Amino acid sequence: MGLLLRVLLLSLPCVSSLPFYNGFYYSHSPRSRNLGHGEGPFHGVKLVVETPEDTLFSHQGANVTLPCRYHYEPALVSPRPVRIKWWKLSENGAPEQDVLVAIGLRHRSFGDYRGRVHLRQIEEREVSLEIWDLQLEDYGRYRCEVIDGLEDESGLVELELRGVVFPYQPRQGRYRLNFQEARRACEDQDAAVASFEQLFRAWEEGLDWCNAGWLQDASVRYPIALARQRCGGLGLAPGVRSYGPRHRRLHRYDVFCFSAALKGQVYYLEHPERLTLSEAKEACREDGAQIAKVGQLFAAWKFRGLDRCDAGWLADGSARYPVLHPRPNCGPLEPGVRSFGFPDPQSRKYGVYCYRPH
Ligand SMILES: *[C@@H]1O[C@H](CO)[C@@H](O)[C@H](O)[C@H]1NC(C)=O
Repeated sequence: MGLLLRVLLLSLPCVSSLPFYNGFYYSHSPRSRNLGHGEGPFHGVKLVVETPEDTLFSHQGANVTLPCRYHYEPALVSPRPVRIKWWKLSENGAPEQDVLVAIGLRHRSFGDYRGRVHLRQIEEREVSLEIWDLQLEDYGRYRCEVIDGLEDESGLVELELRGVVFPYQPRQGRYRLNFQEARRACEDQDAAVASFEQLFRAWEEGLDWCNAGWLQDASVRYPIALARQRCGGLGLAPGVRSYGPRHRRLHRYDVFCFSAALKGQVYYLEHPERLTLSEAKEACREDGAQIAKVGQLFAAWKFRGLDRCDAGWLADGSARYPVLHPRPNCGPLEPGVRSFGFPDPQSRKYGVYCYRPH
C-alpha cells in the first residue's frame, strides 16, 4: 500500500515540488521499507534503517534514548550526507509532531521538545534520539527518518510510560465533567487523561469500573472484567465498552486518568490526632511536604508498594487508603486504592497522605 502510493507519487510529474518528507510516505507496514531505484548511479544500494522491535518503557522525569541506526547494503565506500528527521506520529486525535531535524552538525528541535531532545551519535551511523525529562504526553510512536537525497527510509520506535490508570469523579458526583473539565481534573491530580491503549492495558490487568469516563481521544468508555446485570447487562462480553465519541462540551461523564511512576515519595503522616482537611494540609507543610494528590497516591500504591490501612485526606478533599495485601478489616478482597468519597472537610476522622518531591 505504502509502496504503491509512493510509486504513484513518483510517477506524477509535479511530485518533485512536494516537500521531500511530507508525511505522505508513511506506511503502517514493515519497520524499514525499501524502494529500489532501478537504474541509476546507485543501482543496487539499499539504505536500511534499524530500530528496536520492542516497546521501550520509561517513566516520567527520566531520560530515555530511542535507538536508531542506518547502514547501506552493500556498504558504501564514500559516505553520503544524510538528513535526519525524528517525528511523532499522530495518535489520539493529536496532530503529528516534528521533534528534531538534523543536517550535518546542525540540529533543530521543535515545540515542547525544544531543549529536551538531542541526537545521540556515539557510534557510526547512529542517529538515536535522546529525550530528557520525559513528560506524560511523550508516550507514543516515533519515526526515525533518514534522507540521503536519493532515498528516504525510516523506522519506528514505540515509547510507553509506566503508569497507572484510575477512574476519577469530582466532588460534585457522577457524570459532571465535560472533556475540558475532565482534562483539568486529571491535571489537578498530577495525571493526564488516559489513552485507549492505557485503559485497555489496565483492563487486561483487571480494572473493572461501572462508570463511563472520558479518554484522550474524546471517546467515552468503561472497562468491565466481569459482565453483570447492573453494569450493561449479562449479554455483553467483558471488555472495554464504548459509548463512542461524545460532544466535548455538552456531554458529561467521569474520566480515566493516567498517573506515571513518581519522582518523589508519598507517605502516611504519623500524627497523634485525626485532622480536618485544612489541618491535614498544614501538617504536611510542617513536615516539609505537600498533601498528596490522587494520582500520586495511585502511583505510590502501584510502583512503590504503598500499603496502609489508614484512610487519609488528599489534596482534592477526598479520603482514601492504598491496600496492596488485602486483609481482614481492611476493605474488599482485591488490592486497590479505597475511597471514602469526599467527606465533610471539617470532620476529624482521617489522617493524611503527604507527598515530598525529591
Ligand atoms: C538527564 O540528562 C541531563 C543532561 O545530561 C542531566 O542533567 C539530568 O540529570 C538527567 N536526568 C536524569 C533523571 O538522569
